[in-house]
Amino acid sequence: MATAQAPSAPGKPLPPGPAQAKIKATCTSCHNTSRITEQHLSRPEWSAELEKMEGLGAVIPDADRNAFLSYLTKNFGPEKSAAKPTKKSGS
Ligand code: HEC
Repeated sequence: MATAQAPSAPGKPLPPGPAQAKIKATCTSCHNTSRITEQHLSRPEWSAELEKMEGLGAVIPDADRNAFLSYLTKNFGPEKSAAKPTKKSGS
């Protein structure tokens, strides 16, 4: 069997935040973090995405759902201008 597509790359690091560790534990068993970091979704879109992942087999406890959504929307929310690439803003 070919192993060329083995998803062993760790992907981009997730930004720190209250839900980071849980997201990492919950969301990287099937794909790496790049799947997440490449998205720019609104909160309702992330909510739909979490539902889709649950449909695929992800287990997201109800108690964590809000924290996940806040984290994802804060760090991977919609881009302000679709035309501009996201600039690193100094902290
Ligand atoms: C049970 C396995 C599994 C888990 C756990 C999982 N995912 Fe996924 N995820 C997938 C699969 C399979 C795809 C590709 C789906 C496709 O191509 O339609 C995917 C794709 C994605 C995508 C790309 C957009 C899309 O819909 O294809 C995002 C974003 C994503 N996952 C986020 C998450 C987040 C956030 C979590 C944690 C809450 C998570 N995933 C947990 C299986 C999983």
